[in-house]
Amino acid sequence: MRFHPFLAVLAAAAFVHGEIYSDPAEIIDERYDYVIVGAGAGGSVLANRLTEDPSKKVLLIEAGSRQADYKNLNIEVPWFAALLANSRFDWNYTTVPQPGLNNRSLPFQRGRVLGGSTAVNYMIHNRGSRDDWDRYAEVTGDKGWSWDAMYPYMLKIEKLVPPADGHNTDGQIDPSIHGTDGPLAISLPGFLLGTDERVVNASHELPEFRYNIDQNSGDMIGIGWAQSTIANGTRTTSAGSYIEPALLRPNLDILVDTQVTKVLQTGNHDGTPVFRGVEFAQSATGPLFQINVTDEVILAAGAINTPQILLLSGIGDSAELTPLGIETLVDLPDVGKNLQDHPLLTSSYTVNSDDTLDNLISDAAYAGQQFALWQANRTGQLVLSPTNQIGWFRLPENASIWETHPDPTAGPTSSHYEFVFTDAYISFVGGPRPSGHFFTVFTNVISPTSRGSITLKSSNPFDPPLMDPNMLGTDVDTFVMLEAVKAARRFMSAPAWNGYILEEYGPFAEVHTDEEIIAYARKYASTVNHASCTAAMGKRGVVGEGKGVLNPDLTVKGTVGLRVVDASAFPYVPAAHPMAPVYLLAERAADLIRMSELLDSRAVLDASRPGEWRLMNQLQELLPFRLPF
Ligand SMILES: Cc1cc2nc3c(=O)[nH]c(=O)nc-3n(C[C@H](O)[C@H](O)[C@H](O)COP(=O)(O)OP(=O)(O)OC[C@H]3O[C@@H](n4cnc5c(N)ncnc54)[C@H](O)[C@@H]3O)c2cc1C
Ligand SMILES: *[C@@H]1O[C@H](CO)[C@@H](O)[C@H](O)[C@H]1NC(C)=O
Ligand SMILES: *[C@@H]1O[C@H](CO)[C@@H](O)[C@H](O)[C@H]1NC(C)=O
Ligand SMILES: *[C@@H]1O[C@H](CO)[C@@H](O)[C@H](O)[C@H]1NC(C)=O
Ligand SMILES: *[C@@H]1O[C@H](CO)[C@@H](O)[C@H](O)[C@H]1NC(C)=O
Ligand SMILES: *[C@@H]1O[C@H](CO)[C@@H](O)[C@H](O)[C@H]1NC(C)=O
Ligand SMILES: *[C@@H]1O[C@H](CO)[C@@H](O)[C@H](O)[C@H]1NC(C)=O
Ligand SMILES: *[C@@H]1O[C@H](CO)[C@@H](O)[C@H](O)[C@H]1NC(C)=O
Repeated sequence: MRFHPFLAVLAAAAFVHGEIYSDPAEIIDERYDYVIVGAGAGGSVLANRLTEDPSKKVLLIEAGSRQADYKNLNIEVPWFAALLANSRFDWNYTTVPQPGLNNRSLPFQRGRVLGGSTAVNYMIHNRGSRDDWDRYAEVTGDKGWSWDAMYPYMLKIEKLVPPADGHNTDGQIDPSIHGTDGPLAISLPGFLLGTDERVVNASHELPEFRYNIDQNSGDMIGIGWAQSTIANGTRTTSAGSYIEPALLRPNLDILVDTQVTKVLQTGNHDGTPVFRGVEFAQSATGPLFQINVTDEVILAAGAINTPQILLLSGIGDSAELTPLGIETLVDLPDVGKNLQDHPLLTSSYTVNSDDTLDNLISDAAYAGQQFALWQANRTGQLVLSPTNQIGWFRLPENASIWETHPDPTAGPTSSHYEFVFTDAYISFVGGPRPSGHFFTVFTNVISPTSRGSITLKSSNPFDPPLMDPNMLGTDVDTFVMLEAVKAARRFMSAPAWNGYILEEYGPFAEVHTDEEIIAYARKYASTVNHASCTAAMGKRGVVGEGKGVLNPDLTVKGTVGLRVVDASAFPYVPAAHPMAPVYLLAERAADLIRMSELLDSRAVLDASRPGEWRLMNQLQELLPFRLPF
C-alpha cells in the first residue's frame, strides 16, 4: 500500500501510536516479533531502536507501574533522588550478610518503573574509559566493543545542553567530544556552589590529583566536573528519552505492572533449544500468561533480575537448579556468577559556613522556597545531583599490594578509586542526622576484585533472589578503600580548603592507623548500587565455567532466540558509573540485532536500496569478521 506522505504524517500525529496496557488480556492475542523484558537503560533503547523498522512489532514488559509514573516529581526533581530508596519505585531488595562489612546486609536499590534504575539513580553520566571498552573487546574477541568502535554511539546517544543556570562552562567540559542531537540530554551542574572553586583549586595545587577537563574523553583519571543526565533542571530518564518518542510509532506496545517469570522453550534448531516465548504474571497468586514471538526474547531486567529469570527458566548451573526442582534446559554454570559492584564510604567534615546543601535537608522552609523556584523555572539548588565534581585515581605503581596481587584495572585510563564530593552531610549507614554544616567525600572502590553472585532462594519467581555483592571481600578491595581514605585526607588538606574545612566529623575523626581505617570501612561502607556482570559476555561459542553466559553479540550461549541487553552483560563492571555504558551497550545491541536479521534474510537483500548498504557497511565496521556479501 502507498501512503501519501502528508496523510501518513497526519495519521501518525492523530491516532496511530503505541499503547501502554496494564491488563495482559489486552495484548495476549497480538503477534510480536520481539519481546523486551524490563524498561530500564537497556530495554528502553531497544524498544526505541527496534521500532524504527515499521515492519517489526515490539512488546515491552515492565514490572513497575503506570505510564506517567516516570513524571512523578520525586523522579523529575534531581535533588529528590534520595527520596526514591524504599519508595514505590524501588524493588526494596536487601543483600545477604556481607562478611567484608561485619556481616551487615545492605539495601540494594533497583528502579521498578518505566525508566528502571535511570529513574531512581544519581544521574552521573560516564562513558567509561578507553581501557574498559578495549578490555571488553579483548575478552570477547570482538573489536566492535572497543572504545574506538563504540565512540560513534557515544556521540549518538548524547544531547549536551546548557546547565539550568546557564553559566559559562568554559574549562568545565570539552564540548567537541559530545553529541548534541541524541535522545539522552546531559548537562553540567545547574547551580554553582562555594565549594566548586575549592575542589578545582585543590586539584591544581596537588599534582597527585590533577585536573581533567572532561572525564568522558576516554581517559577518566583526575578531578573534573560531573556531567549528569539532567536537562532544564529535570532528570532525563530512559523512559522520557527513548520510550516516549517510540510510543509515537504504531509498532510498540508496553505492558506494565507485569513481571516476567521465565523464558519458555518453543522448539529446537539443529539440536539447540529455541527460547521464543515468555511467561508472565501480575502477582504471585494471579494467573500465568504466555506469549510467543517470531524473532527474539530480549532480557533487559537488570543485573539482579536477568540472571534470576534465566535460572527460573532452567538456564544456569544444573548443580544449583536441580535441588530447587528446576529442570536444566541449558547447563550454563556462569549464570548469576561474577556479580560486581562498587563499595562506597562517606567521610564528612564540619565547615566554616552556614550556606551548604544541608539546608535543603534540615530546613523545611528553605527547601520549600527552593521547590517554588524549581517549579517556577527549573532553577535553584534542587536541579543538582548529589555532586558537582568527581575524581578518579589510581594507586601508585609501587603500592605494596601489587607485590602480591595483579593490578585489577583495565589499564592506565581506568581508576582504582573514586572521589565524589557533596556539599552536605551524607551517610548511608544509620544514625541520626547531625545538625550543622558539612562537606562529604565519598571514597568508592572502582575496579573491584571481589566477585559475588545472584542465586535463587526458591523456584518461586516472586521470591527475591539471594543477592551477594561480596563487598570488600578481597585484600585488594580493602587495600584500595584504605588508600582511598588516606588519599581523601591528602586532598582535603590542600591549601584551597584553608578557612573553610574545620575538622573531620564523627567516627571518621577517630581513625588513624591502617587497622582503624579498615575497621571504619567495614562498619560504615555501603554500595553505589552498580550491580553488574551476572550474565557476562565471553568468547563466541565457548561454554563452561568461567567462559561467560553470552556470546559477544549478547545472545545467550547454547540457545536460539534469546539475548541479554543490560548491565548483566559486562565481563567487568565499568570503572565508572555504569548507566551510560548500558545505554551504549544497548545501542550497539540494536545494530547487532538488525545485522542478524539481515544475515538471515540476505537472499532478499536489495542492493538497489542505498540505506541497506549503508547499514551493512556500518555493521561491517563493528564486526571482527568479514560479512559474506
Ligand atoms: C540508587 C542508584 C543510584 C545509581 N546512580 C547511578 C549514577 O549516578 N550514574 C550511573 O551511571 N549509574 C547509576 N546507577 C546504576 C544505573 O542506574 C544502572 O547501572 C542502570 O540503570 C542499569 O540498567 P539496566 O538496563 O541493566 O537495568 P535497570 O535500569 O535497573 O532496568 C531494569 C528494568 O527491568 C525491570 N524488571 C526487572 N525484573 C523484571 C521482570 N521479571 N519482569 C519485568 N520487568 C522486570 C525493572 O523494574 C527495571 O525497570 C545507580 C543505580 C541505583 C539503583
Ligand atoms: C517498596 O516499599 C515501598 C514503601 O513501603 C512500597 O510502596 C513498594 O510497593 C515496595 N516495592 C515493592 C516492589 O514491593
Ligand atoms: C560473619 O558470619 C560468619 C558466618 O556466620 C561468621 O563465621 C563470622 O565470624 C561473622 N563475622 C563477623 C565479623 O561477625
Ligand atoms: C581559586 O583559585 C583562584 C586562582 O588562584 C583564586 O582567584 C580563587 O580565589 C580561589 N578560590 C578560592 C575559593 O579559594
Ligand atoms: C508457544 O510455542 C509452543 C511451541 O510451539 C507451543 O507449544 C505453545 O502453545 C505456544 N504458546 C502460545 C501462547 O502460543
Ligand atoms: C524548562 O522548564 C520550564 C518549566 O517547566 C518550561 O517552561 C520550559 O519550556 C522548559 N524548557 C525547555 C527547553 O524544555
Ligand atoms: C527564576 O525565577 C526566579 C524567581 O521568580 C527569578 O528570580 C529568576 O531570575 C528566574 N531565573 C531564570 C533563569 O529565569
Ligand atoms: C613509591 O614511590 C614514591 C615516589 O618515588 C615514594 O615517595 C614512596 O615512598 C614509594 N612508596 C612505597 C610504598 O614504596
